[in-house]
Amino acid sequence: MNFERIPPLWLDETDSTNAEAMRLLKRSKPAEGTCIAAQFQTEGRGQRSNAWSSRPRENLLVSFILYPPLAISGAPFLLSKTAALAVRETLQHFTTEEVHIKWPNDVLIGRKKAAGILIENQWMGSQWHAAVVGIGLNVNQTIFSVEHATSLRASGADALAPETVLTELQTRLSHHYHRLCKGESQAISGQYHDRLFGKENNHSYETLEGPIEAKVLRVLDDGRIEMVTGQGNTRLYDLSELRLIY
Ligand code: BTN
Repeated sequence: MNFERIPPLWLDETDSTNAEAMRLLKRSKPAEGTCIAAQFQTEGRGQRSNAWSSRPRENLLVSFILYPPLAISGAPFLLSKTAALAVRETLQHFTTEEVHIKWPNDVLIGRKKAAGILIENQWMGSQWHAAVVGIGLNVNQTIFSVEHATSLRASGADALAPETVLTELQTRLSHHYHRLCKGESQAISGQYHDRLFGKENNHSYETLEGPIEAKVLRVLDDGRIEMVTGQGNTRLYDLSELRLIY
């Protein structure tokens, strides 16, 4: 369960570290915490079927193989919360700027996205056998094709080796995952909530019914988010129903 000392496998180039980890899982049972990192991905995958692009050697692109305990198989979003906490703390370790989690599991420095998480699962029949936790964390990149992206460097931190950032991330993910396995899911949810973006003020969101101005109330362990609008209406949204307008 503690995997902070497993040496990462570093690849110069791959299609996607998540795809690489899934292939490894198909042909073997790698140790829990096995970690595959790459300097460059030709087909980096993001959430909602988007691509994840990252300039060669500038950022951290990594996937961890985990075997989540049966106890959380009814609430798989707890693993997302756990990973988001570890990524948030890792970024915060290297910057003096405020780092927040944006539901579901983006991590922002200020109001810009500095890291994203894509969890892909392997099922054996109806059993959750393994999870591949893929993390893209922007370290040194300063030129982005979208306005709302940033990196540690672009937000004022010193240039860092992605390997140094990975050491920090491994320690923190191992720590929080160990807590999840010990049954500390309420505490993890509490910490996730504490660092959640959008609780204090109204922000603009796109919904299936059109744009709304709303504040975040809470995120359930099934991944849905509860929002309250400026008019005081509360509503739950799932992952496909709500998006922040940056
Ligand atoms: C997002 O869209 O916010 C999630 C991005 C996740 C990107 C990482 S980079 C390492 C791993 N390999 C992939 O192909 N995707 C994830």
